[in-house]
Amino acid sequence: MELVINGGNKLSGEVKLHAAKNAVLPIIACCVLVGEDVVINNVPDLIDIHAMLDIIKSLGGSAEYDEGTVTVNCNSLVPTLIDRELTKRARSSIFILGPILSRFHEAKISYPGGCEIGTRPIDLHLSGLKQLGAEICETEKAIECKGNLNGSEIVLRLPSVGATENIMMAAVLAQGRTIIHNAAKEPEIADLAAFINACGGKVYGAGSDIIIIEGVEKLHGTVYTPISDRIVAGTYMIATAVCGGKLVLRDINLSYISSLVNFLTVAGCRLSYRANDMTVISSGRLSGIPKLSTGYYPYYPTDLQAPMLTLMSVAKGRSELKENLFESRFKHAVWLNEMGADITIDGTTAIVNGVKKLKGKEVFAEDLRGGAALVIAGLKAEGQTIVKNICHIDRGYEKIECLFSAIGGDIYRR
Ligand code: EPZ
Repeated sequence: MELVINGGNKLSGEVKLHAAKNAVLPIIACCVLVGEDVVINNVPDLIDIHAMLDIIKSLGGSAEYDEGTVTVNCNSLVPTLIDRELTKRARSSIFILGPILSRFHEAKISYPGGCEIGTRPIDLHLSGLKQLGAEICETEKAIECKGNLNGSEIVLRLPSVGATENIMMAAVLAQGRTIIHNAAKEPEIADLAAFINACGGKVYGAGSDIIIIEGVEKLHGTVYTPISDRIVAGTYMIATAVCGGKLVLRDINLSYISSLVNFLTVAGCRLSYRANDMTVISSGRLSGIPKLSTGYYPYYPTDLQAPMLTLMSVAKGRSELKENLFESRFKHAVWLNEMGADITIDGTTAIVNGVKKLKGKEVFAEDLRGGAALVIAGLKAEGQTIVKNICHIDRGYEKIECLFSAIGGDIYRR
C-alpha cells in the first residue's frame, strides 16, 4: 500500500480527536491487573493497539475492538512466554511486564520492537522492577522475572515515559508504598494513574516528578475514556500551518500542546483557544524558528519533531532543530531533501535553510512520525508525492488519508 498526494490545497475544517495512542497502550497493559471487564472508549484503529490486544489474547485474556470501543477481560489470564512475533510489533509490549509480575509474581517476555529511532534500552524498566523485589534473568531471547513485589523508593536516572508507567503499574498490587522520583510528567502518565484509580488503585502525584503508589489487594473493572491524542492534534496543526488555511480542533487540553502553540506563533500562525477548542489560522509564508529543542514534557515533544522539520523546510530563513531524546530520529530529512528541502544534519541537530517550494517525489516512511512529516510535505509540495512503507504511519494515525482529505487535502491510499 502507498499514499498518493497531490499538493497545493489549503486545509480547513473541524476535527474531533481519538483517544491518545500513548495513553491507550499502557491502559490496555494495565488491564492485566484487573480480573473483570474493562471498557475503553474512543480508541483509534491502529496497528499498535491491535498488537497490544493480541498480546492479551495470547495470554488467555479476552480483548475485543469494536468500532472504537475496546473491551478487555483478564480474569482467565495465564502468565506464559509472550513471544517475539508479538513483542517485536510494538515498543509498548514492554509495558505488560510490570502488571504481569505484580499480579502473578512471574513474567516472561521477548524483547520489544517499535520505531527504529534509537537504541531504546529498557534498563530503567528492569532496574525499577528489581528495586521492587523482582529477580530478573535476561537471556538472548527473553526477559524472565519472578518475585513478590514490595514497595520501594525509586529514583529514575531520566524521566522515561515507559519506565515510569511500567514501575507505576507494577507497584499497584505490590505490598506497601512505592515512590517514584524524577518520574515522567507527560499527560499520558496522569491519564494512566486516573485509570488505575478508577479501578480502585491508589496513585498520587502523577503528572508531577514524584509519584506515590499505595499497594492494594485488587482492582475492579471500569469504563474509561482516555485523553485525546495531543500528537495527532499537533500533526494536524502543523499541517495546517504549512499548507495554509483554518482548522478547529475539538476537545483538546491547551496545556498538552502549549509548547507547540508557542512555536507556531513564532512562525507566524494565528492561534486561539476557547472552551476546549483550538483554532489555527495560517496564511502566507511562515517564518523560520531560530532554535527549537525537543525535551521531556512540558518541553517540545520529540514526537512532533519530524512534522516541525517539514514546517521549517518551507519557512522563510534559517531554522535549527535539536533532537535531545533519541539518537536516530532524523531519517525523514533525507526524503525531505529529495523533495527539494535544504537540511543539514549535524549530530542531533538539523540546520534548515527554508525553500520557497518542495517538489512531489516518491518517498519512503522509515518510522511513524517521520512518515507523517512526509505526508505533510506532500500536501504542500508542487506536483504528486507517493509515500511508501505506510505501515509505519498506520501504527499511530488511523487512516491518515481520511484524516487529511476530510479537511481539504488531495490524498488517497492505493
Ligand atoms: C514513549 O516511548 C512513547 N511511546 C514515544 O512515542 C515517545 O517518543 C517517548 O515516550 C518520549 O516521549 C509510547 O508511549 C508507546 P522514553 P518510550 O522511555 O517510553 C531513554 C510515538 O511516536 N531510556 O521516555 O520508549 C531512551 O533511550 C512514540 O508515539 C533509557 O535510557 O520513551 C530515550 O533516550 C515514539 N532507558 C529516553 O529515555 C530506559 O530503560 C526517553 O525514552 C528507557 C528509556
